[in-house]
Amino acid sequence: MPAAIIDGKALAKDLRAEIAKRVEALAGRGVVPALAVILVGDDPASVSYVSGKEKACAEAGMRSIERRLSADAAEAELLSLVEAFNRDPEIHGILVQLPLPKHISERKVVAAIAPEKDVDGFTPVNVGRLVLGEDCYPPCTPHGIVKLIGRAGVKLDGADVVVVGRSNIVGKPLANLLLQKSANATVTVCHTGTRDLAAHVRRADIVVACAGRPGLVSADMIKPGACVIDVGVNRVEAPDAPKGFRLVGDVDFEAAAKVAGSITPVPGGVGPMTITMLLDNTVTAAERTLGVRN
Ligand code: GUN
Repeated sequence: MPAAIIDGKALAKDLRAEIAKRVEALAGRGVVPALAVILVGDDPASVSYVSGKEKACAEAGMRSIERRLSADAAEAELLSLVEAFNRDPEIHGILVQLPLPKHISERKVVAAIAPEKDVDGFTPVNVGRLVLGEDCYPPCTPHGIVKLIGRAGVKLDGADVVVVGRSNIVGKPLANLLLQKSANATVTVCHTGTRDLAAHVRRADIVVACAGRPGLVSADMIKPGACVIDVGVNRVEAPDAPKGFRLVGDVDFEAAAKVAGSITPVPGGVGPMTITMLLDNTVTAAERTLGVRN
C-alpha cells in the first residue's frame, strides 16, 4: 500500500484559522501582533522565505515590518536595528533571516535579540530553556514537525526516531524537543560523521531528514510502514520547469512513498508548518505582553 501523504498545507490551514481567532481576540484589546523581519542581502531562497512569512502574517490579521539591508551592511548596523526592535513596544517578535553574510557574526546577532521577542527560538536563552525542559518558544520547524507526526496519527511515546542532520535550526532543537517527557521518543541524531547511516535509518519508526542533501535518504533505508518527514528544500536543475529548477527534499520521494507508512511531500509538507509555528509564537509573545499567557 502506498504511504499516506501528510498534508502540511491542510494542517497549516487549520492551525492558522485558530491563530486568526487569537489575533481577533487581541485586536479587541487594542493589540495587533507584529513581527519584525530583517533580511540581509538578496539570496533568492531567503527572499522567498521572507515573503512567505509576511504574506502569512497579513492573512492572519497580523502586522509584519520588513527591513532589508544590503549584503555588505556592517554588523553594527544590523545590531542597532535589532536593538531598536527590542525597545519598540509595538513589536512582539523579531526574526533575522539566516544565513547571514560571512562578515557578520550570526552568533552575536542572534544573541542580541531580546529573549521575550525571540519567536524563532534561536537565542542562547531560549535554547537553554528548551534543553532544560523549561517554558520556551519552541523553534518553528521542529515544532511543526512534531505537529505533523501527530497529524499522521503516529505515536511518539517510545518510538525510535532517527534525525538525519544536526543543524542549530532543525536537527539539534528537534532532538531536544523529542526528548522532552511530553514527546518521550528515543532519539538518534545522524550526521556527516555517522559511519552507517542506512543501518540507523532502517531501525527508525520515524525518520526526519534535515541534512540539505537531495536523495540522501533512499527507499531501501526505510523500514516498511515508517513515518518519513522530509525537511530538505533543495533546488535541482530542471530545464523543462518554468523557473529552470525544481524543489526536492532529502528523501527520494517517489520510491520512499512505496515503502513508508506516511510521508511528507516537498513542497507542501514541513514548509507551511514552519511559518504557522512562527505565527503561533508571535501571537503568544503578544498575548504575554497583556498577561493573558504565561
Ligand atoms: N533560515 C532557514 N530557516 C530559518 C528559520 O526558521 N528562521 C530564520 N530566522 N532563518 C532561517
